[in-house]
Amino acid sequence: MFTMIRAIKGIKDILPDQLPRWNVVEGAAHRLARCYGFREIRIPIFEITELYIRSIGGTTDIVEKEMYTFNDRDGTSLTLRPEGTAGVVRAIIEHGLANNPATRKLYYIGPMFRHERPQAGRFRQFNQFGVEFIGSTSPKADVEVISLLWRFFSTLALPSITLEINSLGQPPERQRYKAVLLTYLQGKIDRLCGNCQRRMEFNPLRVLDCKVMECRAVTESAPSLIDYLSTSAQHFKDVRAGLEDLGIPYSLNSRLVRGLDYYSMTTFEVTSSSLGAQNTIGAGGRYDGLFEVLGGKSTPAIGFAVGLERVISILPESAMPLPNPLVFIAGFGNRGLPASFRLLEALRSKGVTAETDHYGSSLKNLLRLADRLGASFTIILGDEECMQGQVLLRNMYTKEQETIPLNSAPDVLANRLKTPNSP
Ligand code: HAM
Repeated sequence: MFTMIRAIKGIKDILPDQLPRWNVVEGAAHRLARCYGFREIRIPIFEITELYIRSIGGTTDIVEKEMYTFNDRDGTSLTLRPEGTAGVVRAIIEHGLANNPATRKLYYIGPMFRHERPQAGRFRQFNQFGVEFIGSTSPKADVEVISLLWRFFSTLALPSITLEINSLGQPPERQRYKAVLLTYLQGKIDRLCGNCQRRMEFNPLRVLDCKVMECRAVTESAPSLIDYLSTSAQHFKDVRAGLEDLGIPYSLNSRLVRGLDYYSMTTFEVTSSSLGAQNTIGAGGRYDGLFEVLGGKSTPAIGFAVGLERVISILPESAMPLPNPLVFIAGFGNRGLPASFRLLEALRSKGVTAETDHYGSSLKNLLRLADRLGASFTIILGDEECMQGQVLLRNMYTKEQETIPLNSAPDVLANRLKTPNSP
């Protein structure tokens, strides 16, 4: 006897019952991204490891602890993509997409891989919907991207969502602030966790992001980066004014430093209090320096990514369309069976979702099967009906039955079941 093989920890199947929710969320992502002028791009699921080290940063948790890295047969180090931005920027540089105004706004949907400790809302394979808007330094680009993120969540009617924004400034501003923060933290080093003590020297900003209670208490009254902005202060002001102008509610969060090193200036996160500890449903920011780091021409850019598993877990029923009504054909008898197969094809050609059973079971069994499949109508078609050129149409909710001509059954049902979901 063989033992059963299970899926890997933190890596989930998406089962048929869950797929309608995925279709709704992905459908909204495609529709809204296009509506905001973004075009889809599909990038590889694995790339040269160096791409992620250089873009995300060698001392980030993702690169230090979470990447699925392996050697190709020729010894080249490859990594399953932990996020989409690095790959999209690589593709933009490689194919010169930045030169064409029609390919400066791109979006993607697909799986990402991080070796994190699995828990509710945190997976090792998870799906993101992300957008990247390149080539604009305008604060309006920031507002456009944040507005799309907000509209995506609002369209799906996600409960209890909050948008927080921050500015990390440009590198010289951040450098100046880091020195101020470091002096502040050095005075309180004994109260910081081991991790923060270790990373304080090379990246004191990360301490602001630490979830340990004592570290949070220490950083509660730390100097705020926003107060140290100079060159990018106006940009941030304009982003805030733009959000206010569009009526997008936000709050400032000076702790929002993000876990990836490529960010500068605007950063943002949306959380939902309907989720547990892993409550960030989407996040992003500006990354004006990334193109150069990856060997391209200096190009400003901003984007976000949404964690689709988290969105789907709080998607309200009200966001779900009614399923396409199903017509079941209960065919039996030497004539009834072949006629019902022809009718099945005729119904489907009219866009009606139809199903049958090919084995000519008893009418009782066929009606039971129709019930289990959730059929709205059952067409009963035996030899006798066939000879009379008629079928019995049974409403599965009211149990009422009526006789209709066999030939016109496809049109009658197509008209009766006209739904927004029919093709
Ligand atoms: P991120 O904050 O690392 O940003 O991930 C974005 C979103 O992906 C998170 O807010 C969360 O919803 C989801 N997510 C991340 N890790 C997991 C996980 N292990 N399980 C389930 N969901 C997860 C980025 O990835 C950037 N590339 C976003 C971006 C695009 N910035 C600019 N452009």
